[in-house]
Amino acid sequence: MASPPLVICLGNVVADHTFRVEDVPAPPAKIAARSYSIGPGGMAANAAIAAVRLGGRAAFWGRVGDDMNGEPLAAALEAEGVDVTGLRRVPGGRTPVGAVLVDPRGERTIVSFRGSGLGTDAAWLPLERIRQAGALCCDPRWPEGVAAAAAAAREAGVPVVLDGERSETRILVDLVPRVDHAIFSVPGLANFLPGRGPEEGLRQALASGPVKVAAVTQGEKGVLWMAAGDDKPTRTPAFDVLATNTTGAGDVFHGAYALAVAEGMDTPRAMRFAAAAGALRARDGATPTRAMVEEMMAG
Ligand SMILES: Nc1ncnc2c1ncn2[C@@H]1O[C@H](COP(=O)(O)OP(=O)(O)OP(=O)(O)O)[C@@H](O)[C@H]1O
Ligand SMILES: [Mg+2]
Repeated sequence: MASPPLVICLGNVVADHTFRVEDVPAPPAKIAARSYSIGPGGMAANAAIAAVRLGGRAAFWGRVGDDMNGEPLAAALEAEGVDVTGLRRVPGGRTPVGAVLVDPRGERTIVSFRGSGLGTDAAWLPLERIRQAGALCCDPRWPEGVAAAAAAAREAGVPVVLDGERSETRILVDLVPRVDHAIFSVPGLANFLPGRGPEEGLRQALASGPVKVAAVTQGEKGVLWMAAGDDKPTRTPAFDVLATNTTGAGDVFHGAYALAVAEGMDTPRAMRFAAAAGALRARDGATPTRAMVEEMMAG
């Protein structure tokens, strides 16, 4: 039997400290948490974990520091079944860390430290492995890494998915034309094309390069997407769930979408598959399995 397709996820991995709280009061405040957990977060890292849970294979390419958080994060990703041989421990670097406050409605407040001393160098990336992949899924936190890997992917004919998340305009404008699927968050699309509506943003993304699909995920409103050549956008509605923790729903959406692309699903089906995975993540605060997603899609 052929092995499942490989999704290479490149970008951010974060040590997420999650506190469940009754409320997030205005400062000055001292808040007692109802519960606490620590685990891997970050867009590309969550996407990699999702690709594995959903039945694919995944590799994570990125950087951590050689501080207290770096090694445990590598171990945690590996425990999830993600190949971490492309995760570099940068000497003297500081690993990205997040403090996530989740209220009873599942809404979250995040303090994030994006890391430091990780540099920009991408020359060490094992680009020769790209041809083994069915898809490359990138977030915008390491643009030099995306540029290098996306170029290698294009040469190898491997489709590239970008998580167009909140970022500087110049970074998104530079990265979008390098990818095949530009899947934005609401703030990310506003950063890409400031002051315009979502439809204009999607059209702009498609016009900016050989982009095949542009989309914006809109939480419980689902996802609005447009393929090259379409005259108007299509909405894939969200699945109706009771959200308890929406953290990472977008990341899981991207991992699922990249796996769907790697498996050769057409765009409407890939959007539905990813929307089901995102909804289950928002419902449970945990990344779903393939069986759970298929059950949800079957209704
Ligand atoms: N409350 C919800 N109910 C149903 N589906 C949801 C919900 N939240 C997210 N989803 C699904 O997951 C997709 C991605 O979520 P969302 O748009 O919130 O991502 P995001 O803004 O990138 O957030 P983040 O990356 O912080 O998780 C949505 O398009 C939707 O299909
Ligand atoms: Mg997101």
